[in-house]
Amino acid sequence: MAVQRTLSIIKPDAVGKNVIGDIIRRFEENGLAVIAARMVRLSKREAGAFYAVHAERPFYGELCDFIASGPVLAMVLEGQNAIALNRQLMGATNPKEAEAGTIRADHADSIDANAVHGSDSAENAAKEIAFFFSDLDIHSRR
Ligand code: CMP
Repeated sequence: MAVQRTLSIIKPDAVGKNVIGDIIRRFEENGLAVIAARMVRLSKREAGAFYAVHAERPFYGELCDFIASGPVLAMVLEGQNAIALNRQLMGATNPKEAEAGTIRADHADSIDANAVHGSDSAENAAKEIAFFFSDLDIHSRR
């Protein structure tokens, strides 16, 4: 499997619980490297643009309000099979369905306050990385 890059966001709930270190530890222990990182509080408008793919979904408004409710840590993760591996480490979107030992099983409270976001495809990873980072911000370990 090829080396890939993916966007990870530690959401306002997990930043507020002070579990950034625990989440990054899981990435690093599973072979993912943080090659860019930035803490930012998104405006409502920026949140709407980031989640534009969900604009027609009934939960879009709440989703945007939540991601803009506090600071988030946006990161680029790099490693073998990074997109699927990150999603495996995160667990299911709804923490009630997340497998034991995953980030969401351990740190998420609800489907909105679900601790982390991760890109779901190579195409979306490229778009989401470009939303937060320029090439100059990204430092590959390969
Ligand atoms: P995330 O991985 O950030 O991608 C979109 C987010 O929408 C998702 O995590 C959830 O936090 C949120 N969301 C809220 N309701 C739903 C739903 N019914 N299905 C999928 N995602 C939802």
